[in-house]
Amino acid sequence: MRPFDDIDRIAATEALDRVAAPARDLVNKLLTNQKVADVLHGVPIGHPLHPILAQASFGSFLSAGLLDLVPRTRRPATALIGVGLVAAVPTAAAGWADYSQAHEERQRVGIVHAAANIAMLSGYVVSLGARLRGRSTRGALWGWTALAIGSAGAALGGHLSYHQALGANHAEDYPHIGPEDWTDAGTLEELPDGEPVERRVGEVRVVVVRHGDRIRALGQRCPHASAPLSDGELTDVDGDACIECPWHGSVFRLEDGRVMRGPATAPAAPFPARVREGRVELRVATWPGVPAG
Ligand code: FES
Repeated sequence: MRPFDDIDRIAATEALDRVAAPARDLVNKLLTNQKVADVLHGVPIGHPLHPILAQASFGSFLSAGLLDLVPRTRRPATALIGVGLVAAVPTAAAGWADYSQAHEERQRVGIVHAAANIAMLSGYVVSLGARLRGRSTRGALWGWTALAIGSAGAALGGHLSYHQALGANHAEDYPHIGPEDWTDAGTLEELPDGEPVERRVGEVRVVVVRHGDRIRALGQRCPHASAPLSDGELTDVDGDACIECPWHGSVFRLEDGRVMRGPATAPAAPFPARVREGRVELRVATWPGVPAG
């Protein structure tokens, strides 16, 4: 058994749902402002926010731990712990926002990740208190203990991202496997007007939307967690025709796959379309976000 296989056991432990589900419900109850939620997910920057902020927080703690090994550096180490604790507030907020839109197996690992981080932060609060009272050796010992716990928590965070694909772009492969040349996707006549439908084009599935003679298509898989976009609802954002994901409500502009609302941070894969002799032809855009045309 490899060490990280044990994390899969955490993901399969249904007993954790007794804590994980109420935690998710509480976050969803508190996080009702869509604009705030989008910022916490990282929609405005087009990248999950939590791992970026985590670097500031955990990086400060790690640096403090190293400085504590060097003579006469306890004061900067204390300052770094203060920075890490301040940075932990938005880091945690962004993490809980992502957690609230994850599936159950991720939430089980996520709740243990959160518990480890809460234990780590508690340790650093005690460490900071000891340092401010002049008991720097005691503060360093608490800091190293907290760092060890936080490292375990960080490993779980890495597993969530790399193994369980939380925050990963689930539409990344379309430009690699979608057809580069115009490829037949059926007749125009077969497409219902104003209704998303699934079609196969080459090796991939796409969602196709017809409005009159106007055809727009996106990769079928939602970039957030692979929901079938053809099961979503068509909607309108600021005059742009969009589709809303059926699972967590991300909204993508049909024109180019742009994220109009999170939790997704990566765009859906756009497939430029044309009609030739009554037949619809599609090809993959070079890269999601490149305007279809
Ligand atoms: S799968 Fe989560 S928003 Fe689409």
